[in-house]
Amino acid sequence: MRMSLRKALRWVLAFIMVVFVTLNLHLLYNTPESETTVVLNKRDSSEAVFPLAQAWVDMNGQDAAAGPPHDGQVRTTAKLSLVIPSKPSNISSSSALNNGTMSKKQRYNKYININDTETLKMEVLRINTEQYVHNLDRFGLSLGSDSLVIVIQAHDRPEHLRLLLNSMRKVKDISHSLLIVSHDVYSHQLNDLIEAVDFCPVMQIFFPFSQQIYSKEFPGEHPNDCPRNVKKSEALKKKCNNAEFPDRYGHYREAKYCQAKHHWIWKLQHVFEEIHILNNYEGNVMLLEDDYFLSEDILFSTHMLMGLKERDCPDCRMLVLGNYDKNQNYATNGAKVERTYWISSKHNMGMTFNRSLWLDLKNCAKEFCSFDDYNWDWTLQHLSMKCIPGRIRLLVMKASRIFHLGECGMHKKSKNCDPQAKVQQIETKLMQNYKHLYPNMVTVAGDSRIKLRDPKPNGGWGDIRDHNLCLKHFSNATDKYIR
Ligand SMILES: *[C@@H]1O[C@H](CO)[C@@H](O)[C@H](O)[C@H]1NC(C)=O
Ligand SMILES: *[C@@H]1O[C@H](CO)[C@@H](O)[C@H](O)[C@H]1NC(C)=O
Ligand SMILES: *[C@@H]1O[C@H](CO)[C@@H](O)[C@H](O)[C@H]1NC(C)=O
Ligand SMILES: *[C@@H]1O[C@H](CO)[C@@H](O)[C@H](O)[C@H]1NC(C)=O
Ligand SMILES: *[C@@H]1O[C@H](CO)[C@@H](O)[C@H](O)[C@H]1NC(C)=O
Repeated sequence: MRMSLRKALRWVLAFIMVVFVTLNLHLLYNTPESETTVVLNKRDSSEAVFPLAQAWVDMNGQDAAAGPPHDGQVRTTAKLSLVIPSKPSNISSSSALNNGTMSKKQRYNKYININDTETLKMEVLRINTEQYVHNLDRFGLSLGSDSLVIVIQAHDRPEHLRLLLNSMRKVKDISHSLLIVSHDVYSHQLNDLIEAVDFCPVMQIFFPFSQQIYSKEFPGEHPNDCPRNVKKSEALKKKCNNAEFPDRYGHYREAKYCQAKHHWIWKLQHVFEEIHILNNYEGNVMLLEDDYFLSEDILFSTHMLMGLKERDCPDCRMLVLGNYDKNQNYATNGAKVERTYWISSKHNMGMTFNRSLWLDLKNCAKEFCSFDDYNWDWTLQHLSMKCIPGRIRLLVMKASRIFHLGECGMHKKSKNCDPQAKVQQIETKLMQNYKHLYPNMVTVAGDSRIKLRDPKPNGGWGDIRDHNLCLKHFSNATDKYIR
């Protein structure tokens, strides 16, 4: 009697285990190929978390895809556009790659006089042309359709950039990504920060029409430019440069506010069209700014979103990793995603998309460049409403993987802004919620019902010279620098 009860219990237990295993297998294997990236193992599956890593193994002939995937591995059909193997560490520093003028230490002219704008112009052109990638010997680079290229638009805020890079250093699997830093200020301090990056391949690019270089002429401020608040009739009498072209509110351009929109679109064109190693790149690009701070699971989360997009939002054009919500609840929202359409004030942090959206933007060049708003993000919302087919639909993380440090923003310099203190707060919050990071399953938790509208332009972009320069950013390198 006793024996058989024990036996029965054993059978029940065995049955439950079989059901459990079957259910799990079902989850892992029975999804179509395109969906497998939705289910990934947690952080302990070191090499397989990245589909790219797997593709790399396949390329090398160790065909892991032949049998069923091992625990946590992901099969992928990712196409690789570029593979540069790393060099064994013992030959790295003395190799021919780093010899002579190519020496890492001499990459930048440390003795350049930054006040000499002609020299600076040449230096910036040289760097943009040479397209040197730091750390290739160490990490190599393989880029495919599952990769992520991270682009930081950096202004003159070394302290912020340092904090962002520090957060990036802790991001899991960051060494698989290519980091591109796009500067509108050339400074030794900023260059040193980039040279100190030791966690992934990194390239610097420089916005060639910066105010730093064109300090006394357009697109900087020319001495004979009309003051912002002068009346048009007066301006015409004064014959100041842009008298004919105030914005829709009757104000003349302010160079310092126009730079960011120029830089933003120039950078996209440069990344998608001018950087040689990205010529055939089909993967995603993530846009960041220098005053962001990243959660260490941001790349992991991005790959989860990529899988989710294929399954639950094939017409989405973008993934957004950050949001501005005051209260971030990782326990309830850590793995939740909202499906919605692009709104400038909500979805401009950690925008991730591929060449296909860039090509749509390019088709809207005229609209982008003539819309009378100096904010690139309001302009983008206008394009989404009026020019880009189907509008920009997206998936956004409900629990942010990016934090905006700058109350000390581009426009205002507030006194009580201490980025260090803010970092401390964020790190504490993330530490407390560590078990909710690296979600092994992400789900769409709903569609936003916010009413969409074509934004009313803010002005500041009425000058025909801005329109023309902006259009030039969309054109080929050959005629781009002829002004
Ligand atoms: C580099 O290190 C490997 C193993 O540590 C060694 O076999 C190889 O000979 C070294 N190569 C050079 C150029 O020193
Ligand atoms: C660097 O290159 C020069 C010739 O260009 C050569 O003489 C020298 O040995 C090289 N140094 C190293 C460390 O490879
Ligand atoms: C550059 O200009 C700044 C401010 O005008 C000045 O303080 C600095 O000494 C100059 N540097 C050089 C190398 O001339
Ligand atoms: C790029 O994104 C579009 C959607 O915007 C998608 O249809 C396409 O498949 C993506 N390309 C690759 C290579 O993933
Ligand atoms: C860039 O140049 C190529 C060759 O000169 C030309 O075919 C192409 O149309 C140009 N593209 C643009 C956007 O001007």
